[in-house]
Amino acid sequence: MAASYARKHNCQPVANFRPISAKNALPTLASAWLAVVVQSAVFKRVASGLLACALGSVIGVVRADEPAAGFAPPDESLFAPGRFVYERNCVMCHGRWGEGDGEMGRTVVPKPRKFVSGIFKYGSTPPGFLPTTDDLMRTVRGGRANTAMPFFSHLSERDIRAVVEYVKSFSAKWRRRANHAPPVPLPPPPDWLGDAKLAEPHVTSGKAAYAVLCAACHGEDADGKGPAAAELRDAWNDPCPPIDLRLPAYRNGRTAADIFRVLTLGINGTPMPTFGEALSAAQRWDLAAYLLTLRPPPATRRVN
Ligand code: HEC
Ligand code: HEC
Repeated sequence: MAASYARKHNCQPVANFRPISAKNALPTLASAWLAVVVQSAVFKRVASGLLACALGSVIGVVRADEPAAGFAPPDESLFAPGRFVYERNCVMCHGRWGEGDGEMGRTVVPKPRKFVSGIFKYGSTPPGFLPTTDDLMRTVRGGRANTAMPFFSHLSERDIRAVVEYVKSFSAKWRRRANHAPPVPLPPPPDWLGDAKLAEPHVTSGKAAYAVLCAACHGEDADGKGPAAAELRDAWNDPCPPIDLRLPAYRNGRTAADIFRVLTLGINGTPMPTFGEALSAAQRWDLAAYLLTLRPPPATRRVN
């Protein structure tokens, strides 16, 4: 069991240990001399100069190539309390080793996230980057509408934070600075959105853009049954049907700002494209305005 787990997760055995014997006495002697040289003052001065030089250039390279902001390595001090929360609340779907293979998760669509893949859908960062800690906490606290991912608002913020750090322990991607980026700043919704009359021309232009850009996947009537829908797969090679955009709730949230964010950033690991560059902000707000009109009217209250 332990051996197969080690094989599967590519765990390396501890480096070979070689006891001193006549056969390896020579290298041992050589290393003793090396130790004397290394401890000499002259060597120390030269080495520390070289080290400072090397470190300086490494830091320079890191600064130049990799986004520094938004990076915090996983907080290992929270792994133990996080594991406690995980094993009571998450393991039945996400699986003991974060492989998404828990007993309760086998039949649900979409499947529980495989944390080992290090790919996450719900983020505020640029496409292709890991989500922020806040993004993950939002998913756990609020759940994700129209999926089996439940909400855990009854857990304390401390427990949610801890379990989120534990979730990060399943993939080495979280330790690499290059995979992190700060959230993309997004503009506030325009004022016309609150006024049905002012919004009318925007809805019309959003509807026209929808027919050209979205209908192939989401369907002309936004029922999620466009001609390309059946072919779509996600990064985990599971079928990934486009969303029925007439639903009262969306996985990513149903406000104009939520729709604008999805259009700007896309959805990692799924065929939902990013329109942050292809469309202007004005065009993305028009599309959001059109999608808001597809929401069913609130149910009328029945008084008995
Ligand atoms: C009943 C099953 C179930 C349980 C229990 C569950 N999840 Fe999930 N979870 C899911 C499903 C299904 C998804 C995939 C949703 C999707 O793809 O939109 C998911 C997705 C996620 C994601 C991915 C979010 C992203 O951005 O991609 C995180 C993080 C997560 N769950 C954390 C947790 C944590 C932490 C717990 C326990 C406190 C938990 N889940 C318990 C079913 C579950
Ligand atoms: C290549 C196919 C494709 C195209 C084109 C496409 N989408 Fe999507 N879209 C998807 C898929 C697949 C998903 C579901 C992602 C997931 O699994 O969460 C999605 C999800 C969404 C969501 C999130 C719904 C939710 O529940 O949170 C919105 C909003 C959306 N699309 C709007 C649009 C709009 C507007 C356009 C056109 C500008 C568009 N999409 C174009 C495939 C597509």
